[in-house]
Amino acid sequence: MKVDTRALAARALAEIALRGVSLRDAMERHAPRLGDPRDRALLMALLSEGSRWWLRFDAAIDGLLEKPLRHKDPAIHALLVLGLVQLEILQLQDYAAVAATVEATRSLKRPQLAGLVNAVLRRWQRERETLNARLDARPQTRHAHPAWLADALARDWPQQAEAVMLADNGEPPLMLRVNRQRSERQSMIERLQAAGHAASAHPWLADALVLPHSTDVTRLPGFEDGAFAVQDGAAQVAADLADLSDGLRVLDACAAPGGKACHLLERAAIDLTALEVDAGRAERIRQNLMRLRLDAKLVIGDAGTPAGWWKRQPFDRILIDAPCSASGVLRRRPDVRLHRRESDIAAMQVQQHRILSALWPLLAPGGRLVYITCSVLRAENEAIVKAMLAAHTDAQAVEFGLPVGQAASVGWQILPGDGDLDGMYYAVLRKQS
Ligand SMILES: C[S@@+](CC[C@H](N)C(=O)[O-])C[C@H]1O[C@@H](n2cnc3c(N)ncnc32)[C@H](O)[C@@H]1O
Repeated sequence: MKVDTRALAARALAEIALRGVSLRDAMERHAPRLGDPRDRALLMALLSEGSRWWLRFDAAIDGLLEKPLRHKDPAIHALLVLGLVQLEILQLQDYAAVAATVEATRSLKRPQLAGLVNAVLRRWQRERETLNARLDARPQTRHAHPAWLADALARDWPQQAEAVMLADNGEPPLMLRVNRQRSERQSMIERLQAAGHAASAHPWLADALVLPHSTDVTRLPGFEDGAFAVQDGAAQVAADLADLSDGLRVLDACAAPGGKACHLLERAAIDLTALEVDAGRAERIRQNLMRLRLDAKLVIGDAGTPAGWWKRQPFDRILIDAPCSASGVLRRRPDVRLHRRESDIAAMQVQQHRILSALWPLLAPGGRLVYITCSVLRAENEAIVKAMLAAHTDAQAVEFGLPVGQAASVGWQILPGDGDLDGMYYAVLRKQS
């Protein structure tokens, strides 16, 4: 019997939104049940946009039901949320969206709720203007952000908070990084254009290519032979700030899945140690190195306790792409806003501080350390770097600016949407010679 995509999506979305399952895990578990690639694409769209807009339409559904269903019947509650996502976000034909969603109640073995689902969606259609206006009145339902994050953005970036939340809900372009060791950027653009893709060179990032929409990258010309990797432009800034030259000893301390490590290796003939605490994620570094035909020392270990893995030879460059809230990449990871808690930030700060303090002694005099997060919260960025500078008299902040984003009190913040990039924070520290 054919699997009902909407019913499957409702079960999966309830797991993501109410039980903390990641979008990636939910897709891996449920998508193989759908044979047709178009059904899998619909499942992905429903789960991505369902996660992104959950906090708006979850609240809307509560207002449309006499008794909430969220806990009593999570899959039907999620199905209703998906009904509104189809009407408002995916803009599927009203008739198809409503009929197919009502039909899915039967696949979920709740035929007795078909009438209720139909009535709720019809009422939404009749009253959508008033109901949307009500949701637009509060930042957390207007932009579907958790209240703590909307408040933190308003506190840290009062002028930009609204634009950041809008960017978090927009479609990001697909950005590629050309592997300089294997291809010229212009010839890569021509190969992609010949295959019907509107690829163009990024205006200021030397290795970046932009495609307007996402696509299956494994089918693009050059994927198998390692001519390019997928990487947002904001992450490609790291290689410039590392200021590399041949022969340097470099540590990438939080390396998986290896995006920045591979970029460093493409830029110069360096001796790179790629460190990662999570063995499963480290495997992804190995696969990326292999596909891109690059070579590094791969070490599984904790950046906060170098005694376990450091060979007592100082590094000329250290990159710390620290574990963080991921609050700068919500547009690419729509489930993060549902899973992150305000209390996670203090725990992240402990890790960030611990890693930075432990690795500073490993940097050679005159060496450079690049501290990076994909967070937009000052607590994970400037606060960590300032505490580090206060504790180490041999550390100096290197001043720099980028074509987009804004100077922070130390370092530089790219906010989501600045230059159509992901949100990312950079600080560069130099050790006195
Ligand atoms: C933001 S991701 C790094 C992304 C990577 N630099 C890239 O560009 O592809 C942070 C990584 O740090 C790892 N990590 C977290 N705590 C760590 C620790 N104490 N030591 C080493 N790696 C750690 C995480 O498992 C995760 O893979």
